[in-house]
Amino acid sequence: MAEELEGLVIPRHVAIILDGNGRWAKKRGLPRTAGHKQGCAAVEQTVEDAARLGIRYLTVYGFSTENWKRPEDEVSTLMNLFRFYTKRLLKIATANNVRVKMIGERTRFAPDLQEGIRQLEERTKENTGLTFVIAVNYGGRDEITRAVRRIAEEVRSGILDPGEITEQKVAAYLDTAGIPDPDLLIRTSGELRLSNFLLWQLAYAEFYITDVLWPDFNREELIRAIRAYNRRDRRFGGVKA
Ligand code: IPE
Ligand code: IPE
Ligand code: MG
Repeated sequence: MAEELEGLVIPRHVAIILDGNGRWAKKRGLPRTAGHKQGCAAVEQTVEDAARLGIRYLTVYGFSTENWKRPEDEVSTLMNLFRFYTKRLLKIATANNVRVKMIGERTRFAPDLQEGIRQLEERTKENTGLTFVIAVNYGGRDEITRAVRRIAEEVRSGILDPGEITEQKVAAYLDTAGIPDPDLLIRTSGELRLSNFLLWQLAYAEFYITDVLWPDFNREELIRAIRAYNRRDRRFGGVKA
């Protein structure tokens, strides 16, 4: 491992829009749900790979606020997979010293699922390795809207003065409070859009789009993305040093 990674800067925070589960299944004449199952296995593997590569934060977009519009049976399969994974992830996180955190609006989930998420976060919160952030029922606009609502409530109750609302303050009201912004965004399956993912946080992330379908994503692809990231000339609005 050391040799292939020699000299590479490992991004601190990698965010992934996992896409292409449906296309992966279609190519094989399988139902979309088979693609989602294989996609979950790829997520599990990527968590372990990211932890071993020394990535500090991995955020994965699993279900958007718009994905409720999908056929009912697909939504229910996705919810059941998520339910299964809240338990399975506890084992994987414990074995790999991973801290798990969920972002997104969780009150829309069934009570047992909300409890599963709570336990997963609670039982892994002392882990000191990778922080694995799962975005479920997540939408960037929804997140910002909820933050604005909370800020407005605090202003109304006199806790917060409008003059104190800085960029740092706004960031602290987002679901990602305390998590550094992503350095690298990966999107699989070739689509060139954000699909409402981390709108605030991706302001200066480097984008890496691959045609690989999410269920086929693996450690090699992750390293390929990190290599591409290393070739970028990051500026943050400045000039080249
Ligand atoms: C990504 O794969 C998984 C989710 C958005 C839940 P898709 O289900 O979007 O797969 P495609 O885009 O139809 O291939
Ligand atoms: C983005 O994938 C959302 C997630 C990965 C959870 P979609 O497949 O839902 O996005 P669109 O519809 O192609 O924009
Ligand atoms: Mg898709």
